Amino acid sequence: MIEFRCGGAVGENSGDVLLVAVGAESAYDDGASWVVEQLPWMTEHLDRREFTGKQGEITVVPTSGAVSYAEIAFVGVGENPTEETVRRATGDAARFLKRSTTIFTTLHRACEGGVGAVAMGIALGTYSFDKHKSNPKPSLVDTISFLNGTDADLEVAREAMIVVDGVALARDLVNEPAMYKSPETMADIAAGIAGETNLDIRILDAAEIEAERLGGLHGVSLGATNPPRLVELRYEPEDAKAFLAVVGKGIVFDSGGLSLKPANSMEEMKTDMSGEAAVFGAMKAIARLALPVKVVGITPLTENMPGGAALRPGDVLHTRNGKTIEVLNTDAEGRLVLADGLALAVEQSPDLVVDLATLTGACMVALGKKIGGLFGTDDAVAMVAEAAEVAGERLWHLPLPEDYRKQIDSDVADMKNTGESHGGAITASLFLKEFAGDGPWAHLDIAGPARAPETEGYILKGGTGFGVRTIVELARQMAGSVASSQ
Ligand code: BES
Ligand code: MN
Ligand code: ZN
Repeated sequence: MIEFRCGGAVGENSGDVLLVAVGAESAYDDGASWVVEQLPWMTEHLDRREFTGKQGEITVVPTSGAVSYAEIAFVGVGENPTEETVRRATGDAARFLKRSTTIFTTLHRACEGGVGAVAMGIALGTYSFDKHKSNPKPSLVDTISFLNGTDADLEVAREAMIVVDGVALARDLVNEPAMYKSPETMADIAAGIAGETNLDIRILDAAEIEAERLGGLHGVSLGATNPPRLVELRYEPEDAKAFLAVVGKGIVFDSGGLSLKPANSMEEMKTDMSGEAAVFGAMKAIARLALPVKVVGITPLTENMPGGAALRPGDVLHTRNGKTIEVLNTDAEGRLVLADGLALAVEQSPDLVVDLATLTGACMVALGKKIGGLFGTDDAVAMVAEAAEVAGERLWHLPLPEDYRKQIDSDVADMKNTGESHGGAITASLFLKEFAGDGPWAHLDIAGPARAPETEGYILKGGTGFGVRTIVELARQMAGSVASSQ
């Protein structure tokens, strides 16, 4: 756990690292100016390194005791730094500082919101998932001092760390191998979160899932030996100003079922519960932040496996809201479990329903691995787009054209679970729309950004925890907005 402090002037402190900002064309901030005053050779050193303060440039220089900080970390923030660019640059710098314990910084003054950006950049950038390593190398950072900081800065940093903890929880869950995260285990983890943060929780087991007519979830679970669960986390503060429901796809492993995936496509399918992980992480953070908004988090949890009792192509499922689905491809399982999850959410009449799912490879074809697809009703899309922008998570709005709906017409049921291969992220979303009710609804296809193929900025290779920050920010905005229908 990182501790935050207010430091005084840069010349009056000592520690392992001084983290300073340099803007475009060597525009030194206070910290950097102090360093070059104390150590005049430093400008020449930076010149030789061709360090001019471009966004993303980083140079760490040992001082051999010539000043009161053992190392100086110069971070290029470029022209017009924003919260997100500072967060990224800090994340990149943080990995050079993992073995240092005390960090002093002036970097937080590079932009508005810089305190949160630096706190998050360091904490997220030094994340590692090493519980299964015999030689773990965890971050040793234990204090961050904001030079010339205020009490208000400390509060901002504290809140940023609550969000970081939610993101780290989601990353841990996504990175965990499927063999250690059965639906039962996931439900136990949810119960643990509920206990820690005073959330209410409802867990449905296999029999209850059937009794509650969750035919989509039940259908997908048929091929698996590990039984399914449905988890509903509920945060209901007395001063709630609005009601948000979030639904997360919780396929703890997606083999494709009988429509089996090829081996290489299965390698990363332990991450197919990233939507669920984002819901858990966000619920925990929202409760700890005590935001005045009611939030219900619903996660259908199962494996998609090709066991002897598995769903067959051609089978028809009866879902929670009464609509029926002909399953032609058992690998399009996310929409089947989300059908029931969304129906359960809508029954509670929230002001806004948001679902997060690693739903389609097609969305990655459209937007690549760093940007998620955003679908839904206009009002909901606007709210989520705004929250994602503030949070620094990248989403792009894609359409829900009504004339594409006929692609999922079925001969024997109300709809089938696949359309044409082109535009697959859209037909998947049109399918979800059948279960999303008449109110504001947004769907985030996070198949791309839920996992990172490489480390960059504060994003580490592996599970990213994508969605947590957007959901928390959305809850913040709903809490701040004038009371709606609630
Ligand atoms: N979990 C996958 C989507 C996915 C693919 C996520 C790659 C992350 C990386 C989903 O369940 C799936 O298999 N979707 C199919 C749908 C198709 C059968 C209509 C897909 O995208 O190929
Ligand atoms: Mn699948
Ligand atoms: Zn899947």
